[in-house]
Amino acid sequence: MSERSCLSVILAAGEGTRMKSDVPKVLHKIAGLEMLAHVVRALDEAGGGDKALVIGHGAEAVRKAASHVAPGIDCFVQAERLGTGHAVLAARAAIARGYDDILVTFGDTPLIAPAALSEMRSELAAGADVVVMGFRTDEPTGYGRLIESDGALVAIREEKDCSPEERRITFCNGGAMAICGAHALALLDAVGNDNAKGEYYLTDIVGIAAGRGLAVRAVEADFESALGINNRAELAAAEAIWQQRRRRAAMLDGVTMIAPETVFFSHDTVIGRDTLLEPNVFFGPGVKIGGNVTIRTACHIEEAQVADGVSVGPFARLRPGAEIMQGAKIGNFVEVKKARVEPGAKIPHLSYVGDARVGARANLGAGTITCNYDGFSKHFTDIGEEAFIGTNSSLVAPLTIGAGAYIASGSVITEPVPADALAFGRARQSTREGLGKRLRDRLAALKAKKA
Ligand code: UD1
Ligand code: MG
Repeated sequence: MSERSCLSVILAAGEGTRMKSDVPKVLHKIAGLEMLAHVVRALDEAGGGDKALVIGHGAEAVRKAASHVAPGIDCFVQAERLGTGHAVLAARAAIARGYDDILVTFGDTPLIAPAALSEMRSELAAGADVVVMGFRTDEPTGYGRLIESDGALVAIREEKDCSPEERRITFCNGGAMAICGAHALALLDAVGNDNAKGEYYLTDIVGIAAGRGLAVRAVEADFESALGINNRAELAAAEAIWQQRRRRAAMLDGVTMIAPETVFFSHDTVIGRDTLLEPNVFFGPGVKIGGNVTIRTACHIEEAQVADGVSVGPFARLRPGAEIMQGAKIGNFVEVKKARVEPGAKIPHLSYVGDARVGARANLGAGTITCNYDGFSKHFTDIGEEAFIGTNSSLVAPLTIGAGAYIASGSVITEPVPADALAFGRARQSTREGLGKRLRDRLAALKAKKA
C-alpha cells in the first residue's frame, strides 16, 4: 500500500464554541498532546502522506499552532461554514495535485484508530472508489445512517433527512472517509445542498458514487474512532478512554500498578519493565522511567529522566530537567528541578534541589535546600561525590562542595568547600548553667504582678 500516494484532509472549521475557550477546539489536549496532533499521528501510522488542514475564517491561532503540531501541514481557509463537503473543497488546490488516495478526517476525533484508516486505504487499493468508516451503536441519534440495499452501501442519510424507518438503522457514519483520488473532485463538485440543513454534505458523495456505478464500501471501526469532542465533558471522557488504554498497554509491557485507575500518563511517557507504580502518580510530558524503578504514592513527574533501580517518593516532585541516575533515592517531600542526581546519591527527605549536580553516593540530610535564585538569576550548586550534607543546611549558589566534604547540620554555606573538608556555617552554641531557671522565675513574677 505504501507505494500509493495519499493526501489527508483534516476538517477543523467547526466553531467549537461549546468548549467555552480562548483556545481553538482542536488545540485542546488529550494526554498532554493536542487533539489535532492525535489525529495527525493516527494518519501517519496509516501512511496518510501529505496533510491539509481546513480551518475557519479568522482561525489564525490554529494555523500558527498547526505548523508546530504537524510540521509541513498545508492550511486552507473555509471562509463560510457551508458543510463538510464544502469544507473538503477548501483544500481543492491540494487535491488537484493528484493523489491515489484522499483520506478525510475530522480534527476533533482524537481517538480515531490507525487500523481503521489503514483498512480504508486497503479497500481503495483493492479497487473501491469511496470507503466510509462506519460503526455500530445502540444510540444512533445525531449520526448519519449507512443505507444499504442488497448488502451494498448506497447512501448516507443525515439524521434530519432520515425517514422514521431509516432512523432505526444502527450502522452509522463515523465521519472519516477515503476517496479514490481520480474521482474525488468530480464527486465533491457534484454535491448539492438540497437537504434539511441546506449544507453541502460530504456524505452525499456515497449516493453520487453509487449512482455512477462506482464501488462504495464501508469498514467497521470502534465507537471511539467516531468520538467527536464538542465540550470539556467530552474532552474528559476521551481522556479517560485514552488513559485506560495506556495503563493496560503499560501493564502488558511489564509495569506493575496497584491502582491503575489512579495513574496518569502523557502521550510520550516511557516506562521500563518491572517498574512499580504505587497509587496516585501523574506523568506530565517528556518523562522516561527505567526498569526496576519504584515510584511511590503521590508523585508528580514531568520532563524528567529516571534511570534503572531508582526509588522516588512518596510525595516527590520531579520537575523539568531532573535526571535521576541509577540506584539513586529521592524520598518524601523532595523537589528536584534541572539537576543531575548521580548514581547511588540519596536525597531522602524534605529537600529542594534545583540547578545542581549531586555527585555519586552523596547524601543530603533532611531539609537540605539549594538557594539557587537571587530574584534575578539562577545559580548552580555542585556537590561532589560522597559529600555529606547535614540536615537543615542552606547551600547558597553559586557554590561548589568538594568530594567527600562534610557540612555541619544547620549550616548556611556561602563559600566553596574543598574536598574532604568539614564546614560549619552556623553560630557556635553557648550554654549558661542555671540561667534557664532564673529566666523562668523572673517571667512568672512579672505575670503575677500584672494579675
Ligand atoms: C458528521 C457527518 C455524519 C457523521 C458524524 C460523525 C456529514 C454531513 N455528517 O456530522 O454523517 O455521523 O459527522 O461524527 O459529514 N466542518 C467544517 N466545515 C463545515 C462543517 C463541518 O470544517 O462547514 C468540520 C467540523 O469542524 C467537524 C467536522 O467537519 O470537525 C464534522 O462536522 P460536524 O458539524 O460535527 O458534523 P456532524 O453533524 O457531527
Ligand atoms: Mg460532529
